[in-house]
Amino acid sequence: MSMADTFVLFGATGDLARRMLFPSLYFLHAEGFLADNVRIFATARSPRTDEEFRAAVADWVCERADGAESNVVASFVARISYLSIDVTTPEGYDELAAAIRADGGGQEVVFYLSTSPSIFGAVCKGLKDHGLSDAPHRIVVEKPIGYDLKTNIEINDTVAQSFSEERTFRIDHYLGKETVQNLIALRFGNRIFEPLWNAETIKSVQITIGETLGVGDRGGYYDEYGAMRDMMQNHLLQLLCLVAMEPPSSLSADAIRNEKVKVLRSLAPITGQNVESKTIRGQYTEGFAPDGEKAKSYKGDTGLEDSQTETYVAVAAEVMNWRWAGVPFYLETGKRMAERKTHIVIAFRPVPHSIFGSEADENELHIVLQPEERITLQIMNKRPGISAQGMPLEELPLNLSLVERNKGTRRRIAYEQLILDALTNNPSLFVQRDEQEAAWRWIDGIAAAWGERNVQPKAYKSGAPGPSAKHVLTERNGHSWYE
Ligand code: BG6
Repeated sequence: MSMADTFVLFGATGDLARRMLFPSLYFLHAEGFLADNVRIFATARSPRTDEEFRAAVADWVCERADGAESNVVASFVARISYLSIDVTTPEGYDELAAAIRADGGGQEVVFYLSTSPSIFGAVCKGLKDHGLSDAPHRIVVEKPIGYDLKTNIEINDTVAQSFSEERTFRIDHYLGKETVQNLIALRFGNRIFEPLWNAETIKSVQITIGETLGVGDRGGYYDEYGAMRDMMQNHLLQLLCLVAMEPPSSLSADAIRNEKVKVLRSLAPITGQNVESKTIRGQYTEGFAPDGEKAKSYKGDTGLEDSQTETYVAVAAEVMNWRWAGVPFYLETGKRMAERKTHIVIAFRPVPHSIFGSEADENELHIVLQPEERITLQIMNKRPGISAQGMPLEELPLNLSLVERNKGTRRRIAYEQLILDALTNNPSLFVQRDEQEAAWRWIDGIAAAWGERNVQPKAYKSGAPGPSAKHVLTERNGHSWYE
């Protein structure tokens, strides 16, 4: 396995760099995943010396890595050089190119853009003009990659002028999560699920990403995007793809991504005709956080009194193909919800003929991805004891707790796998351009339909499981949400 010899981070003083990227690089270093010759160039605008920046990184790492040994931290930060550059001027790149190429380095470079997309164009051009965008160099880009299909295409076109598609790595950090990858293992590493994985046996699918935090200090960004563009367009639709896709022919990037894009293209469009029966928008009002602390409203958090941005969204989606026609996929995500929980519930149809009377003979597969990792199959059992009236049943869980199973194993940051993959040139867990475009096309349809029908967010109390109107979405089909 070959590995890039240089990692260049733009936006090195930002929040993501501090909380996720440097700690991930540190763990890769500490666990021996980084080749000895890998150097890290951190760039941002503010002037700092190497020493100052390395000290800051050491602090960020120690915040995240309990018990990090000081000599390991020291050998990690020694890989880092800091460059203060203005990405809008050619001089910045002169300096960067010289630093990268010093001592024969820069043979294979990964550029990581953790910046506003408004400067992607300037950075890509600057790199190209300095001969830094040719193969085998590659680029990693962070969301938001656009606000809609049009701006997504513009950004991708800009990047494509410097980096070819196979050298453009678009991050969706959910794909780096251990449990999300486990979905692929669960579906395609086990013979037992595949014959049941279709509309004939499955009644509905629910995918929920619930968060308990509010928007914090990200109001400026969030108010423009809302839950639909911030979470549904990427993370939720990626989870949907992994649940709904056909078995890929191999684990290769193309095989997986081609199957995912087919799912996205099969999503039934939501239009002005059905948007009110297929979607719910919500916005949190004052209430309580799970620890009992008072929580402000979204308007209070952001100071935007007139905001009509949704902090909660639910959609009853349909994948129109032979496997899934008629099965609702209930997708839901929100801030300040009752629980931090990401879970997928596959609800099976009842047995065709019940010999047990009125009991609902149904099975459910619960795949909990966050905060703890668990897979539970709800199965019907005979209730213990004797009975004068038939055989009463009860639903019991067949439980695989991955937390228990992997006790003592550190919970990894999603970015560790993704950065390692970018360094080793493995794009399987990154998002292809056509996938993104298909996702945006569907999301744009919903946004336009909301505009056309003037669909406004419904209020839900901070700490509630979303607006109560969400139940209409499932009840219409005789279903209910799994909390
Ligand atoms: C980000 C969104 O992409 O994902 C945030 O911008 C959200 O709003 C976050 O909080 C959730 O990620 P995770 O890994 O904490 O579930």
